[in-house]
Amino acid sequence: MPKVFIRTFGCQMNVYDSERMVEALSEKGYAETASLEDADLVILNTCHIREKAAEKVYSDLGRVRQVKEERDANGQQTLVAVVGCVAQAEGPEIAARAPVVDLVVGPQSYHRLPGLIDKAQARPKTRALIDTAFPEDDKFQELPERAITHAPTAFLTVQEGCDRFCTFCVVPYTRGMEYSRSVAEVESEARRLVAGGVREITLLGQNVNAFHGEGPDGEAWSLAQLIRRLAQIEGLARLRFTTSHPNDMAEDLIAAHGIEPKLMPYLHLPFQAGADRILAAMNRKHTARDYLDLVARIRAAQPEIALSTDIIVGFPGETEAEFAATLRLVEEVGFAQAYSFKYSPRPGTPGAKLADQVSDGIKTERLARLKELLDSQQTAFNARFVGRTIPVLFERPGRRPGQLIGRSPYLQSVHAEAPAEARGQILPVEILSFGPNSLAGVIRSA
Ligand code: 5AD
Ligand code: SF4
Repeated sequence: MPKVFIRTFGCQMNVYDSERMVEALSEKGYAETASLEDADLVILNTCHIREKAAEKVYSDLGRVRQVKEERDANGQQTLVAVVGCVAQAEGPEIAARAPVVDLVVGPQSYHRLPGLIDKAQARPKTRALIDTAFPEDDKFQELPERAITHAPTAFLTVQEGCDRFCTFCVVPYTRGMEYSRSVAEVESEARRLVAGGVREITLLGQNVNAFHGEGPDGEAWSLAQLIRRLAQIEGLARLRFTTSHPNDMAEDLIAAHGIEPKLMPYLHLPFQAGADRILAAMNRKHTARDYLDLVARIRAAQPEIALSTDIIVGFPGETEAEFAATLRLVEEVGFAQAYSFKYSPRPGTPGAKLADQVSDGIKTERLARLKELLDSQQTAFNARFVGRTIPVLFERPGRRPGQLIGRSPYLQSVHAEAPAEARGQILPVEILSFGPNSLAGVIRSA
């Protein structure tokens, strides 16, 4: 049986895509392997969001070339595919820079991967085959039905692409225009997941709250409507969604956080920068005040909600005073968790062409100050849980024998002694201690 090795960089959507590709390849007889040396087919699923992520592909390809040469010497063939967002953005450059690559496939063409593999194998290798068109055919319709997984949690892409064109972001170029799947398609995939034992589904989209897929009534349904529909699936205990743009937080979605018990009290809501001048230059189309008002409305609907965000430091022209506004906004909101990044100029985006780029030294220094504040907020958030008993969905074995790791409703990792059968169950855990990144406690009988 031929073996496929897949390495995934970047976001959760790439994780989802990798799973779907492995499923499609298993229909072709491929088995997944965790060892690069054993792989007849090597797939790198890449991320273009920041320069560092994109450059990883080329360093990885160096290692892949070595392994391929060793396998060649043993008479074993190895096919190498680069897929994902770097493939989309830099297809011809990959082919030119890394002759080891046989196939370059963009995120909208995954359903054609099995056919492309046959094509690559059938011809004498000259240059990589590149498929980065945004095809007319719908990849979700063409991919084989979702395989039954046996994990307690799963990702489910409901929306892809983005029409917002923030001036720092490559997503509108790598993933294309906003596209929503139909409610029926999403629901049938969710039901398959739940039939296999999935208890928690995270709905994914680059701008997921802009979801407007066709509903059973032929109308465009909102994300809140989709969530209410999925919440009716018996056996499904938890729903989450990510990532959201503040301006697409519709009233019904805010309200859903207060009404729908299966929708977890956690929201990832990037604000990117705290100064209005920078927000305007980023084309965010909201101010810091708008964000604070939105947070207040969300908290009014669900006072318990844990907020998470994305923040960029050192966008072109950002002054010290403007960076201080970012720190102030963080102070005012109070986050349970956050991701922060140094601005990275990306080819083709308007931000990259701006003259007043901030030096790396200043970005590094600002990032460190921001991270310190975010870490202290995260630790303070976790500290509040000591003594509380919260429901934990156990997902996987912990590092110590007899231990399982699960998630709280607020997406914290929770460690507890638990029997193996507790995997996939939601059990009350009394929190006894906390760290910056996790909680620990004991299971209390329900
Ligand atoms: N530089 C730094 N961070 C970026 N992000 C997106 N584009 C860039 C960039 N050019 C961050 C944003 C986004 C997250 C997924 O990555 O904060 O929300
Ligand atoms: Fe990376 Fe964005 Fe593509 Fe996800 S969508 S893989 S984060 S560039």
